[in-house]
Amino acid sequence: MMVSALVTGASRGIGRGIAFGLATAGVELTITSRTASDLEILRHELLAAGSPQVVFEAVDLADEDALAGLVELHGEHFSSMDALVVNAGVGTGGDVATFPMRRVQKTVQVNLTSAMRLVQHALPLLRSAAAADPVRGAKIIGLSSITGVYAEHGLAVYGATKAALISFLETVSLEESANGICATSIAPAYVDTDMAAYVSDRIPTTEMIPVSDVVNVVMMLMNLSANSVINRIVVARRGTTGYTA
Ligand SMILES: NC(=O)c1ccc[n+]([C@@H]2O[C@H](COP(=O)([O-])OP(=O)(O)OC[C@H]3O[C@@H](n4cnc5c(N)ncnc54)[C@H](OP(=O)(O)O)[C@@H]3O)[C@@H](O)[C@H]2O)c1
Repeated sequence: MMVSALVTGASRGIGRGIAFGLATAGVELTITSRTASDLEILRHELLAAGSPQVVFEAVDLADEDALAGLVELHGEHFSSMDALVVNAGVGTGGDVATFPMRRVQKTVQVNLTSAMRLVQHALPLLRSAAAADPVRGAKIIGLSSITGVYAEHGLAVYGATKAALISFLETVSLEESANGICATSIAPAYVDTDMAAYVSDRIPTTEMIPVSDVVNVVMMLMNLSANSVINRIVVARRGTTGYTA
């Protein structure tokens, strides 16, 4: 199993589930979100769940200058990085005709640019982990969305960032899989978290994908050898066409 991982958006929803999945498997963790008090509590919970060591830093992913420091923090404590989970994201809805363009920049920064920067900063640590264990390699996992694969009414900007994340991570695999690094996008339909609460009057939470299913996909990817490269995994909801959120 993996030794250490960095997880963004770890305080709630899918990221929190992933952090617990990794902690239970004995993985040392760097966790981040914007709220230090949440991370402090979560740190204790993850240690109790089985992680040998958990460090955290509260960072707004829109602040590009803070991202190098986050990876440095991980490097100082764990010296290499077996997995980078770029999970945090913001959901911004609105029709193209009236979408306020000032919201575009923040969405792109959080959902896409921060992932690009974190991958860039983390590659030396990921390569080092893959070199230390060439059979297992190292993993990058990005939380994209089914809207990044199939267009959805009202989610043009969000979907565009998620489509770009898929493309970016696919190229990372092209360039880095020979070094033992596999980058995968997970593209789910609605997952039962705070982010999807706004559609719960239309789609009951009982019909959404549970966080635990996304965690199971992540843990499956973590357990693959470096010989296998999976670029994207689309998770649709039952009862839908398979092409909608
Ligand atoms: N839920 C869904 O239906 C769904 C479906 C497909 C894909 N996804 C994707 O899955 C990922 C996780 O979604 P989720 O549903 O778990 O979301 P969530 O419940 O809203 O949690 C988002 C997490 O990201 C952190 N975060 C938000 N903005 C941030 C920022 N600017 N800087 C740093 N951290 C930030 C939040 O903590 P703070 O607020 O404390 O910073 C929180 O830990 C996202 O990329 C989302 O787009 C979600």
